[in-house]
Amino acid sequence: MSEHGQGATIWLTGLPSAGKTTIARALARRLAEEGHRVEVLDGDEIREFLSAGLGFGREDRDTNVQRIGFVAELLSSHGVKTLVPVIAPYADSREAVRKRHQAAGTGYVEIHVATPVEVCSERDVKGLYAKQAAGQLTGLTGVDDPYEEPVEPDLRIAAHEQSVAESADAVHALLAARGLL
Ligand SMILES: Nc1ncnc2c1ncn2[C@@H]1O[C@H](COP(=O)(O)OP(=O)(O)OP(=O)(O)O)[C@@H](O)[C@H]1O
Ligand SMILES: [Mg+2]
Repeated sequence: MSEHGQGATIWLTGLPSAGKTTIARALARRLAEEGHRVEVLDGDEIREFLSAGLGFGREDRDTNVQRIGFVAELLSSHGVKTLVPVIAPYADSREAVRKRHQAAGTGYVEIHVATPVEVCSERDVKGLYAKQAAGQLTGLTGVDDPYEEPVEPDLRIAAHEQSVAESADAVHALLAARGLL
């Protein structure tokens, strides 16, 4: 273990506009203030570089998640708290990432940011729900593309019923309880 504490991957899965990025950034701030080494692997940034050229079909979504999982595991194995606010709609893709972390002995927790689709489509941060409704986009997760809810996440957050700070605190408490801080 480094002087910054233990590494771990904290994967935040959930629908578009559920609050994954917002909660991850709040938690990242808090962890950094506490002296932990922190990295955020955000879905949008990853698709610009590491996964440039990948689409949104099942296979490419899986490839995207496996690539992110690979990088997260590398970072976490070197003592970084690696926050991953990425939709990751397929259960088997998420499971593969978890298994690789377990095989390497690297901490891993899955957080389901469980904001219902009605609230997400109301927020519609990137205008995707509106575009889908207008017929300008297809394959939107949770609307006309699958989202396989985690059956047994390490933590499920009703992110629409509590503040961002409360959600970040809940994840922080989970890390503490698991001995991952
Ligand atoms: N209680 C809350 N928890 C989290 N986010 C909230 C909450 N209330 C309102 N919001 C707002 O909801 C929006 C969530 O957007 P955010 O970009 O975090 O979603 P996301 O899950 O990362 O979506 P995407 O998959 O499209 O990247 C933000 O504008 C945030 O300020
Ligand atoms: Mg996001």
